[in-house]
Amino acid sequence: MKPVKVGLLGMGTVGSGTINVLNRNAEEIARRAGREIRISHAAAKEYNPDKIHGLDKIDKITDDAFEVVNDPDVAIIIELIGGYSPALELVLKAIDNGKHVVTANKALIAKHGNEIFAAAQKKGLMVAFEAAVAGGIPIIKAIREGLAANQILWVAGIINGTSNFILTEMRDKGRDFGDVLKEAQTLGYAEADPTFDVEGIDAAHKLTILGAIAFGIPLQFEKTYTEGITKIEQQDVAYAGELGYRIKLLGIARKTDKGIELRVHPTLIPERRLIANVDGVMNAVVVKGDAVGPTLYYGAGAGSEPTASAVIADLVDVVRALTSDPENRVPHLAFQPHKLSRMPILPMEEVETAYYLRMQAIDRPGVLADVTRILGDAGISIEAILQKEPAEGASHVPVIFLTQRVQEKFMNKAIKQIEKLDSIDGKVMRIRLETLA
Ligand code: HSE
Repeated sequence: MKPVKVGLLGMGTVGSGTINVLNRNAEEIARRAGREIRISHAAAKEYNPDKIHGLDKIDKITDDAFEVVNDPDVAIIIELIGGYSPALELVLKAIDNGKHVVTANKALIAKHGNEIFAAAQKKGLMVAFEAAVAGGIPIIKAIREGLAANQILWVAGIINGTSNFILTEMRDKGRDFGDVLKEAQTLGYAEADPTFDVEGIDAAHKLTILGAIAFGIPLQFEKTYTEGITKIEQQDVAYAGELGYRIKLLGIARKTDKGIELRVHPTLIPERRLIANVDGVMNAVVVKGDAVGPTLYYGAGAGSEPTASAVIADLVDVVRALTSDPENRVPHLAFQPHKLSRMPILPMEEVETAYYLRMQAIDRPGVLADVTRILGDAGISIEAILQKEPAEGASHVPVIFLTQRVQEKFMNKAIKQIEKLDSIDGKVMRIRLETLA
């Protein structure tokens, strides 16, 4: 059989890895796919030839990505440019031209996936996006296919390596936030715009996709609650540790009777949980299904070859399914497109979770009683209290509360009242807590 000709858009970190792995493992990959897979046409504004092996095997390299999507010889387009534009225009043009698409672009899928899948569906084409979530971990395949028997109850993941790297270094080495971020950028983990990493946007893109395939809902990025790690202080990481918890940036998708929770925020999790011990740039996702129970997926969430591993797995899937009837392929969002659920996404105020609260209290009798009265009146039960010795000469002491689960709107109200107390200085630091039990 003739080789399948593929067009590659982007020859940066992931693009280089894709060319290198495809060339290095060509024989094994062809044995799996049933046909040789060849990148025949590639586009890049710039690339580093020293980092790519086998450039000579590509027939044509251009700086015009539209030239590749308009190439009639190419059957599959791999989009590794990233960002919204021109990636969206290129992917839609490729679909219009009858080409299947493989992409690692989480921002594109999270924001424009509904439109892209509808266009592909009309043409009977595949759009594969395993590399968009958790890099090399085959989490899309696991949820979409491996767990197809289950009602998914919840998904919780460390899905931004850069944030996890920063939190790990803050905990282990007491390093400075900015300094660690710079290192992640040098290592090629951080997004082009690093606020996407530290403000939780990258994780929210990925969680939007996980939520959609877990619960059979349309992609709804704009309804995903998004909070990053920029407000986390060294002392919070340390107090969480004293109380037996780790702080992780978690993406949580949960089905409740009232609707679906989609939320990204720093979260205290008990240190005895396996996922609490996922450190550095590594990613991990726990998926709880009603039949299988909790399952854990761990691996590299970013980087050249780990992400290429997912891109090429998609490529192999697409090649294997080239001759199959479009109606009988795995649906893009795991559920048949006309069977997507309209379950609402819950606003954060409606979400129920436990909390870590840190406040600066005047060191005098009755102060703790005032705070516990406010919490008690709001129906918020206290799980633990930690009060530190005042620093020499200091008038205030840090006091930390762990609470039981309560709806966020009640906690917001209680925090406002606590902040009004004369005995409490400044803002209350609030971090959500999940036991993941
Ligand atoms: N910036 C992302 C991360 C890269 O840090 O996880 C992979 O999506």
